[in-house]
Amino acid sequence: MKEFIQSLPKVELHLHLEGTLEPELMFELAKRNHIDIPFNSIAEVRGAYSFHNLQSFLDIYFQGANVLINEQDFFDLTWAYLLRCQDDNVLHTEVFFDPQTHTERGISFETVINGIHRALVQGTTELGISSKLIMCFLRHLDEESAFKTLQQAQRHQDKIVAVGLDSSEIGHPPAKFERVFKQAINLGFLTVAHAGEEGEASNISEALNLLKISRIDHGVRCSEDEELVKQLVRERIPLTVCPLSNIKLKVFDSMEQHNIVDLLRRGVCVTINSDDPAYFGGYMVNNFLAVVNAHPINKAEIAQFTFNAIEASFVNKHEKERLR
Ligand code: HPA
Ligand code: ZN
Repeated sequence: MKEFIQSLPKVELHLHLEGTLEPELMFELAKRNHIDIPFNSIAEVRGAYSFHNLQSFLDIYFQGANVLINEQDFFDLTWAYLLRCQDDNVLHTEVFFDPQTHTERGISFETVINGIHRALVQGTTELGISSKLIMCFLRHLDEESAFKTLQQAQRHQDKIVAVGLDSSEIGHPPAKFERVFKQAINLGFLTVAHAGEEGEASNISEALNLLKISRIDHGVRCSEDEELVKQLVRERIPLTVCPLSNIKLKVFDSMEQHNIVDLLRRGVCVTINSDDPAYFGGYMVNNFLAVVNAHPINKAEIAQFTFNAIEASFVNKHEKERLR
């Protein structure tokens, strides 16, 4: 099974570039940029990666991002992730970045996007890995900050395919960003949103109805609303599920209790993704293995995760044929 999963072609649709910052690179960038970090060793950093909910993770995740200063840092971060894609036979990836995490501390939007974009282009030419870039708004910040970020993105619309919504779900429902998403759609961006990760199923319906999203990031709490699950099946609305993330952030008590295989068998377009692999214990292969080790599942079902991801991706029909 391990070889089958290793060699299975994969498509990733839920990956935060800031969440790929491995402790080794964190130390290297801290040194390069003369930034103090509150850790003395790599082991100490890994020891701090024990979370009890989404917020306890986000606090560490935002702190880690402080070492990213120059365009080259964003290039190095993105390139290191693409090399992991190559290791895990990921052929196509649609990655998130959080510009506000950086602009709020004085790094320019251009520094961030130019470093990321250069690495993604090189990933295509040198590694044969195609990609799309999705800009997420931090939902704990206000609407005004999101509008400002959307404005900054307009100059780079050739590099950004969609906008998304991440950070603290509870207390920051989709409705808070209805007007921002409306403008993004008018400008020609596709939309996605984290919903139903820690927050309730109604956030999923709200994101679908108000933000007109093409797919739901996480969405695992859909199970709490039978009518919603039926809608997801009927309308083939994809969920970008992140199994290891859900266990690390205590969305489920154990992988055995995770609902991803149940949702797959009920006909929901579920996909497997790594979210923040440097923090949650693994990239794509490890996420597939974690699911398979906890749930009896056959090879055709495992391959269905990839077929679902191709279907849910933002590439054109021609590209979908190539990935199949
Ligand atoms: N949820 C919300 N925000 C995030 C996540 C997540 O899983 N990862 C990075 N930002
Ligand atoms: Zn996420």
